[in-house]
Amino acid sequence: MAKKLIERPGNRHFYPWPLILVSCVDEDGKPNIITIGASSVCCAHPWVIGFAMGVQQYSYELIKRTGDFGVNIPDRAQLAGADYCGGVSGRATNKFEDLGWTPQPPQEIESPLIEECPVSIECKIVQVAHLGNHDWVMGEAQVAWIDEGLLDGNRIAYDRTDPVWSFFGEYWSIGEKIADWHGAK
Ligand SMILES: Cc1cc2nc3c(=O)[nH]c(=O)nc-3n(C[C@H](O)[C@H](O)[C@H](O)COP(=O)(O)O)c2cc1C
Repeated sequence: MAKKLIERPGNRHFYPWPLILVSCVDEDGKPNIITIGASSVCCAHPWVIGFAMGVQQYSYELIKRTGDFGVNIPDRAQLAGADYCGGVSGRATNKFEDLGWTPQPPQEIESPLIEECPVSIECKIVQVAHLGNHDWVMGEAQVAWIDEGLLDGNRIAYDRTDPVWSFFGEYWSIGEKIADWHGAK
């Protein structure tokens, strides 16, 4: 395989991340949403989810105050809304109202969730890594809300999901299942 050496690699040289919408709230109760392309699971027990938050983001101010955030996973049906939330600031507008979306009351945290997303997870911040122009914010999941139509028992039936993946500058769907781990049936 002929490989080219890239001297200053960046996001355009990486593979996709699942697109998430982080929900939060200001001190007057106005909810907000920030679109996040860089997210991942950090730990299984406890279940910790992390994402890259630009240090200047308005939403960062909000989650620093509450110490929590909602992780909402959009489907293709919410893609236009997700794209919108990643292009305007909640400093200037109410994105829930603009989109006609509904803040879902949380059970364990202060930040509301997004009713329209099929999966929402309530997280409390446990650690922040200061890296540069983004911090990696890690939150321990408290409870999750999952569309009953997506559940097979206690797990998500992924063939019924329609997630969006974010490559650098592009949105992609996930494609098809190609194998099981370790060849399990
Ligand atoms: C597809 C996509 C992915 C994004 N990923 C991130 C990200 O990982 N971290 C981040 O801080 N901003 C990310 N952004 C930018 C924010 O969503 C954007 O700056 C947003 O307007 C900030 O909202 P706020 O001012 O209400 O906090 C992304 C935007 C888009 C469209």
